[in-house]
Amino acid sequence: MSYKFTLIPGDGIGPEITKSAVRVIEQAGVKIDWEIAEAGLSAFNKYKDPLPQETIDSIERNKYALKGPLTTPIGVSFRSVNVALRKEFDLYVNKRPAKTYQGIRTLYFDHIDIMMFRENTEEFYSGIEHYIDSSRSAAETIGIVTKRGCERIVRYAFEYSRKNKRKKVTAVHKANIMKYTGGIFLKVAQEIAAEYPEIEFNDRIVDNMAMQMVMNPYQFDVIVTTNLFGDILSDLASGLVGGLGMAPGANIGSDVGIYEAVHGSAPDIAGKNLANPSAILLASVMMLADIGELDASNRIEKAVAAVVAEGKKVTKDINPVNFVSTDEMTEAIMKKLDSK
Ligand SMILES: NC(=O)c1ccc[n+]([C@@H]2O[C@H](COP(=O)([O-])OP(=O)(O)OC[C@H]3O[C@@H](n4cnc5c(N)ncnc54)[C@H](O)[C@@H]3O)[C@@H](O)[C@H]2O)c1
Repeated sequence: MSYKFTLIPGDGIGPEITKSAVRVIEQAGVKIDWEIAEAGLSAFNKYKDPLPQETIDSIERNKYALKGPLTTPIGVSFRSVNVALRKEFDLYVNKRPAKTYQGIRTLYFDHIDIMMFRENTEEFYSGIEHYIDSSRSAAETIGIVTKRGCERIVRYAFEYSRKNKRKKVTAVHKANIMKYTGGIFLKVAQEIAAEYPEIEFNDRIVDNMAMQMVMNPYQFDVIVTTNLFGDILSDLASGLVGGLGMAPGANIGSDVGIYEAVHGSAPDIAGKNLANPSAILLASVMMLADIGELDASNRIEKAVAAVVAEGKKVTKDINPVNFVSTDEMTEAIMKKLDSK
């Protein structure tokens, strides 16, 4: 079977790491005809539009996209294209695994395996914000939480847990203070949890959750939360397993999926063949699993894990003393695929 998907190389290190993903996926035997589409700062500089209509049309047509990181200028110029894409395609699920990989230095000895689901479209990422006085000394951001929005992300987390035999779901909120928005989320989570009696359920207030994740991450299995808390806690979870180098993410709606590395465009190392391709490769692993290419998905994850564990053909962020280029690490992973 062959597929046609959208590839957004993106900004900074994006073209280098997406090139790596294309090579590894091909080597794993999955035939994908990639439709290249532009977005981000590079698209803005070229077309004065960071998200050209052709890119939207391409994703709409192909349904699956692999996306390199996109630069978002701070404060001025255009708003985040990532947020725009989530809105455009109603990508309400942000799925972020945090897993220990041998060879990556972490603060924890034992294996961590947390799956986090963050609501991806509502609340303080609504883009509804304004100054409330003429001297621009005060501003307001409006965060809307809906029952429907809560239901679909919580249900997704429980369905995922049932399908993947995960044992426990923790809902994270601030319903003690944000009694209405947090209250809706917590109530919905409790109601849906009752439909899955085989899965243990608990809830945590977000500040306590941040401490608990650092003190004892092993007590968590699947986590589901609202947009802003999920944004922060998912990075915290990545930190538990050694940072963003091995952190993939997927933005999923009922119709479209966009898969990416969690890290940014790393302008400091862009164009130097130094970027670690692992996160975008693990994002490809998630994409292949979602389209049913389970064998290739498993083989790529194992190959990445093996190269990282050996630590001989890895990029500078993993081994600052004895490192290889993005291309050489990619080739080592491709070789591992062949040797299986
Ligand atoms: N998904 C996305 O598109 C996304 C996510 C985060 C940030 N960004 C954007 O990226 C730009 C830069 O952001 P930043 O500097 O805060 O974060 P960043 O993740 O780009 O970089 C932080 C540090 O991590 C390093 N790093 C990141 N990815 C790496 C990799 N694959 N291999 C080796 N080292 C890596 C960088 O060199 C840098 O030192 C900003 O414009 C930001 O808005 C985009």
